[in-house]
Amino acid sequence: MAVEAAAVILAAGQGTRMRSSMAKVLHPVGGLPMVARVVANVKKAGLDSIYLVVGHQGDKVQAALPDIPCVVQEQQLGTGHAVDQCREVLAGFKGPVLVTYGDTPLFRPETLAGVVEYHNQQQAAATVITAHMEDPAGYGRIKRDAAGRVLGIVEQKDATAAEQLIQEINTGTYCFDGPLLFQYLQRITPDNAQAEYYLPDVLPLLIADGYSAAGFAVEDARESMGINDRVQLAEAEAILQERLRRHWMLQGVTMIDPTQVWLDDDCSIGQDTVLYPGVHVQAGTVIGRGCTIGPNVRLQGTAIGDGVTVEQAVLTEARVGSETTIGPFAYLRPGAVIGDRCRIGDFVEVKNSTVGDDTSAAHHIYLGDAHVGHGVNVGCGTITANYDGRVKSRTTIEDGAFIGSNSCLVAPVTIGSGAFVAAGSTITEDVPPEGLGIARGRQVNKESWTKRRSQGDPK
Ligand code: UD1
Ligand code: CA
Repeated sequence: MAVEAAAVILAAGQGTRMRSSMAKVLHPVGGLPMVARVVANVKKAGLDSIYLVVGHQGDKVQAALPDIPCVVQEQQLGTGHAVDQCREVLAGFKGPVLVTYGDTPLFRPETLAGVVEYHNQQQAAATVITAHMEDPAGYGRIKRDAAGRVLGIVEQKDATAAEQLIQEINTGTYCFDGPLLFQYLQRITPDNAQAEYYLPDVLPLLIADGYSAAGFAVEDARESMGINDRVQLAEAEAILQERLRRHWMLQGVTMIDPTQVWLDDDCSIGQDTVLYPGVHVQAGTVIGRGCTIGPNVRLQGTAIGDGVTVEQAVLTEARVGSETTIGPFAYLRPGAVIGDRCRIGDFVEVKNSTVGDDTSAAHHIYLGDAHVGHGVNVGCGTITANYDGRVKSRTTIEDGAFIGSNSCLVAPVTIGSGAFVAAGSTITEDVPPEGLGIARGRQVNKESWTKRRSQGDPK
């Protein structure tokens, strides 16, 4: 069996054109820093031994990927020099080495696995992923002989007018024979227009010594897209979103206007769910079947059951049972756990609270640090006063209780099962099961008061 491949990801460059205080490779695409996406793609391709070459803001890149060993390239002397930084960590490694960049996050795992497989099949010393570009400006061009054999790569800045017409480009991702790579990296020189150690320069040296180089053409050139500025960042995001939308539509999800649905790849959406415009399904979200989501909903790390309706709402790290309706204009914060067949209506905020099945909290309500049983009616304007300025306290509303409108439940407090709270009450003591809690000033009516006021006696 062939030795498993190792991977080297180059991410030492500054990325000046991003005009950012954050390292380029940490800018997210599809909700994941682009270098983390490259790592994920490489892992999905089946490679586990991964090294990152870092330089600018290397500590921050390492912090974003604590499990991936980083090798520091102090000075950016070229792609060949960058790979050479892994000489020690890969010393003694006999297998193939995949080299790719931290700023090309669109390579499919299948393509990365494909180049390694092709490289092994061809028994090549080096295999480069190539792409056909209508406008190849800026890229290294692939030079082949009359028989189509790869001879080498010439950089734009070193290319003759004739070479500049070549439309087959170097994507910058390769598979090399590990020992030969490090042996030949010792022989490249910065004798070129950019005075850099070019990684592709090992190809002609290998070929001159009788080794073979291969080209592995990628069908969709967009896979190899590198991100250098924020325009390309947005283009890459669009390509990724198109892929994700397509995937979920083919799984049975309806999108009224796919261009207005944003998806992270770490999410899942059930069959027959309909997504309206303005829906953002973020990492860690799981949506069940037959749901109606949107317009204008953001879901992050949230689990939603089947047959749920969510409209104009933000849900972060929340859980919602089946057949429940959320919104319009609801805010479910971390720790909100809502049961089945509930109604969480307009201007309702729920934080760190459980709400039992068949409970209604229909309008203008704050539930914080509360346990609400099933079959409860929480009236309009109800508030759990959970914070006294020092500590947070819990409110318990037991099964079947009825909370009248505009009640303030001052925690810690318990409303017993089947109990009533009269509208407008400020409840500071427990209400027993089946009891009525009423806590408000009595109304006084003053007869003919306006008339007396106009006569100068407002009492
Ligand atoms: C490189 C290739 C070119 C190819 C193109 C594809 C070389 C000499 N040229 O050109 O043939 O068409 O990629 O995008 O390799 N990096 C480091 N350390 C360095 C230099 C670069 O980590 O010392 C990293 C950069 O952060 C970047 C990547 O390597 O992610 C590519 O470097 P860059 O200078 O952009 O290479 P190109 O000129 O685009
Ligand atoms: Ca580049």
